[in-house]
Amino acid sequence: MSTQTAHSPLGSGQRTRSCATGLACHRCDKSYALTDTVFACPDCGKGLDIVYDYELAARHFRDVPSSERPENIWHFEELLPIVDASAQARVGRHSAYTPLIRADRLGAELGLSNLYLKDDSTSRPSLSYKDRVVSMSVARLLELGKTEIGCVSTGNVGTAIASFAAKAGVDAYVFYPNRLEDMKARACMALGAKVCQVEGNYDEANRRCREVALATGMEFANITLRPFYAEGAKTAAFEIVEQLDWNAPEHIITAAAGGTLSSRLHKGLGELQLLGLSETDATRIHIAQPSGCNPIASAILAEEAEVHAVIPETAAHSLAIGAPGDGYLVIDAVLKRGGTAGFASDPEIFAGIDLLAATEGLLTEPAGGTTVAVLEKLAAAGHFGADETVVAIITGNGLKTLDEHPQKPWPDKVECELDAMLAALSDLKSGATLMQSAREQLHP
Ligand SMILES: Cc1ncc(COP(=O)(O)O)c(C=O)c1O
Ligand SMILES: [Zn+2]
Repeated sequence: MSTQTAHSPLGSGQRTRSCATGLACHRCDKSYALTDTVFACPDCGKGLDIVYDYELAARHFRDVPSSERPENIWHFEELLPIVDASAQARVGRHSAYTPLIRADRLGAELGLSNLYLKDDSTSRPSLSYKDRVVSMSVARLLELGKTEIGCVSTGNVGTAIASFAAKAGVDAYVFYPNRLEDMKARACMALGAKVCQVEGNYDEANRRCREVALATGMEFANITLRPFYAEGAKTAAFEIVEQLDWNAPEHIITAAAGGTLSSRLHKGLGELQLLGLSETDATRIHIAQPSGCNPIASAILAEEAEVHAVIPETAAHSLAIGAPGDGYLVIDAVLKRGGTAGFASDPEIFAGIDLLAATEGLLTEPAGGTTVAVLEKLAAAGHFGADETVVAIITGNGLKTLDEHPQKPWPDKVECELDAMLAALSDLKSGATLMQSAREQLHP
């Protein structure tokens, strides 16, 4: 084990309560100091994980009650890897701690009486779960005293980086693959990031970005800073359990692409159990992927330990990762927790978006539509007890992706006259509702 202590040096100013003690390899358990700038194990090439002093963390949790903790990403700062308080302050203390919403109308559609939505579509500042992970990358960048950050993104990491980098006063460079929703790149540029769109899919761009990082020494949020990036994801698990009054749900379902969120939910739940904060061992994790890019779901359903890469072909651009870096960790998490996986076609994904909109008034992007569509399938197949608590994570906002939704015909303009408007209203009333069309798509 590393000899690094919880409060040893990165910067010289005020310390957070982080109990991080170092980094360890996912596969061979070799360990590294928190000050080391390694991002993959030099021995076996696998990713690195942050390790903590859990006894110290448990003491802190006893000393500082929840009511005295901020309702943001730093709520559980003991279990996050940032030790420099000024870095924490510079990335801002407003992200995460998103609402957990009871979803009675969607639950009634699906036959679930205790359904909740973890609404990361309203995450600050950039409206997706990626605010959680990117806040850790940018804070780590600041701890290292660097002023430029790059990323490779299927869409949402880019907008999150653009936003956090601006707030922290550093320069952001975003590499996008050839297919994503325009609005994500436009938002990124509007926030001042420099954007490069490359001819290639995400997996190709990701491989090249690794080379760019090594050639230039520029930190990449989800490559060279990956162990720190990944830690941000587990905060979703912490929040869900706390928002349920420390009663862990029976099920959590989320969309998976690279696999960071789903695998770190497992880590976060395990840490809550270890600290004695909640009984989380029985919580199952289920993942949802598009049919056109489902390497992790396929491996889980075929009971294989490794993911076989695919070439993505899906309208859910944010989930179009064919060679998921954390795929093996997701398989492990889902199998250990007795969960399962499912996938949804593009029409089912858009029907999932419509069903969520029609029942709960939330507009999500295709990643959220994938989660809802697979939730519907798993519910129909009897994976959830009717009274069990099920939490679906809605990971992204539909305002960024509306251009890609199947176009509903734009209404003709009518005269601004009573008769014309009454006739138009009567036409509108005779048309199908969103709920009807969603149901038809999901059960053709
Ligand atoms: C909105 C949204 N949901 C889910 C995911 C999947 O997350 P992960 O790559 O951690 O599996 C992404 C990833 O790009 C995303 O943008
Ligand atoms: Zn190793």
